[in-house]
Amino acid sequence: MPKKIIIDTDPGIDDAMAILFALCSPEVEVIGLTTIFGNVYTDLATQNALRLLEFAGRPQIPVAHGAARPLQVAFDQPAAFVHGQNGLGEIVLPTPIANADPRAAAQFIVDMIMANPGEITLVPVGPLTNIALALALEPRIATHVAEVVVMGGAAAVNGNVNPAAEANIWHDPHAADRVFTTDWPITMIGLDVTEKTIMQADYLAGLRRSRTGAFIDDIARFYLEFHQKAHDIYAAYTHDPSAIAYLVDPTLFTLQRGPIRVLCEGIGLGQTLWDRSGRQWGRPNAWSGRRPVKVGIDVDSTRLLALYQQRILAAD
Ligand code: RIB
Ligand code: CA
Repeated sequence: MPKKIIIDTDPGIDDAMAILFALCSPEVEVIGLTTIFGNVYTDLATQNALRLLEFAGRPQIPVAHGAARPLQVAFDQPAAFVHGQNGLGEIVLPTPIANADPRAAAQFIVDMIMANPGEITLVPVGPLTNIALALALEPRIATHVAEVVVMGGAAAVNGNVNPAAEANIWHDPHAADRVFTTDWPITMIGLDVTEKTIMQADYLAGLRRSRTGAFIDDIARFYLEFHQKAHDIYAAYTHDPSAIAYLVDPTLFTLQRGPIRVLCEGIGLGQTLWDRSGRQWGRPNAWSGRRPVKVGIDVDSTRLLALYQQRILAAD
């Protein structure tokens, strides 16, 4: 049986690559997209989500519009320098015909999880505001969700916004700390593994043999230019698609458990502080009693890229 998933997303070039990967992988069934700010403002995230589903011929999948701003910090501004002003590398898809679901993202998440106990996997690949709001709306989702698989964080490596923080966590650290400290089954696919899998320009060009792959290569051009400027590689880190890859084939990843707290102030704001020690600490601390998070610490990048290529080339 495929895993029923809700992708909470800020599309976003790599979000689009992840959504299209999920839509052509039989191991998962996308039952909805919920949208959030981050790479773009939430309004555009919703429009892009609708556009992507219609591009993929899946207009019946609901899209629920999410929060417009973080819980407490201000929303700095979209990462247009990474994903383009339109969030899709300035590649234009037709104006969507479908409308968003009438429910807010948090309500949609609660409704889906509570109506399908034990069956829904949440896959946030943007800031965690909607997830925190859903927990506040109905705390019982913590015991009714199948799993939460987060693309975000940096457990034992530097961040990508600054040395401390990864973008999705940095945008809403209070939401992230609430999500990571909730007693539910959560897996973090962070920069520790997503920056180990690198899509080279010729790999992406090789995807052009399918219609979906040609679109991915088109939108990736802008993303490659960003990586060239920011990381001195004309290639792309595989952030959001790695979260989907974990659901399609968990054996791609090596995981280690430990509780996570998120810094919510100071120069390290948004840092995911992971206790990987397994120690019984002599004094109570901010990690005491917190449920361990499964953290990706290694990945078989060769197999992941082969899987992604195989799925995208077979998509259409
Ligand atoms: O740090 C990478 C994450 O931030 C990805 O989800 C990317 O889409 C951006 O949202
Ligand atoms: Ca994203």
